[in-house]
Amino acid sequence: MKKIILTGDRPTGKLHVGHYIGSIKSRLELQNSENYDEFYVMIADAQALTDNAGNVQKVKENILEVALDYLSCGLDPKKVCLFIQSEVPALTEISFYYMNLVTLSRLKRNPTVKEEIKLRGFEESVPVGFLTYPISQTADITAFEANIIPVGDDQKPMIEQAREIVRSFNTTYGETLVMPEAVVPKSKSQSRLVGTDGKGKMSKSLGNCIYLSDSEDTVKQKIMNMYTDPNHIKITDPGQIEGNVVFEYLDAFVKDDSFEKYLPEYKNLDELKAHYKRGGLGDVKIKLFLNNILQEILRPIREKREALAKDPQKVYKILFEGSDKANIKANKTLAKIKNAMGINYRANI
Ligand code: TRP
Repeated sequence: MKKIILTGDRPTGKLHVGHYIGSIKSRLELQNSENYDEFYVMIADAQALTDNAGNVQKVKENILEVALDYLSCGLDPKKVCLFIQSEVPALTEISFYYMNLVTLSRLKRNPTVKEEIKLRGFEESVPVGFLTYPISQTADITAFEANIIPVGDDQKPMIEQAREIVRSFNTTYGETLVMPEAVVPKSKSQSRLVGTDGKGKMSKSLGNCIYLSDSEDTVKQKIMNMYTDPNHIKITDPGQIEGNVVFEYLDAFVKDDSFEKYLPEYKNLDELKAHYKRGGLGDVKIKLFLNNILQEILRPIREKREALAKDPQKVYKILFEGSDKANIKANKTLAKIKNAMGINYRANI
């Protein structure tokens, strides 16, 4: 069976280190493994509009920002098809047919959508487009016959819903669609990176993000202000690891050679944690260590981003060429879908 990968992000803001560790890093590993047949990364502008109807400009601007983030992290348009969702009209048409295979009560049960509705304070006034975006996401996935979907934990219910729609379509109209599978990050600290304030997931609306495009000084400042253990006042006080943002980030970002490079008096994270718990290890030291590790990751990304940002036309060209390719594939699948459903009237008359 072919290995087809598809994933994407809503362009509602610049990408942050939570995106990097939760999804971009594994996309780069997949890309560099070259162990796949097709690889699509979609900028989900149409999905972003489902709760931004009045903010089209914001979504539009962030298409470029997200594309810059992708490219500066190393996603290679020669290996990966980068495209814009709204540039592929077949996705909308496919969604319309899938809508007949899903009940309203099933949509309302989707835990991620439920959570998002609460967060946005929609209550009963939730836009139909928003409630039904898991259907459109199923169209995104199936239009490309994708079977490998690398996503964060919060997207698992979307893939579950997509699998139900695929099953329902295939039983109703005959075996047509490919069954997708979610691939989620290995560890919790990676799949759900906490914000710098320790209050919850890193998210733009909470103002607790470190962006891939932040300057060196901004990154350092955000790290120095990170939430640690409020009871760890004097260096000699015993400290808590649990809920300590600096340690959560170290869990997610530390590399085999980080200690040797930046903190040679410790062998590994376990030793560092043990010292912190015992007392005698100050917050400034662990923060500066984290700063070194993050700056090493972010420096090349920032430099590449600054260079790319000087030529937005070049970035759009990449996205439009990707969208042209995406259209060819999605139109083929749409034809298969209409065939299976028996609504290919012109072919039969
Ligand atoms: N829902 C995803 C997000 O919130 C974006 C997305 C849209 C997506 N379509 C997709 C992800 C298809 C994986 C596959 O970021």
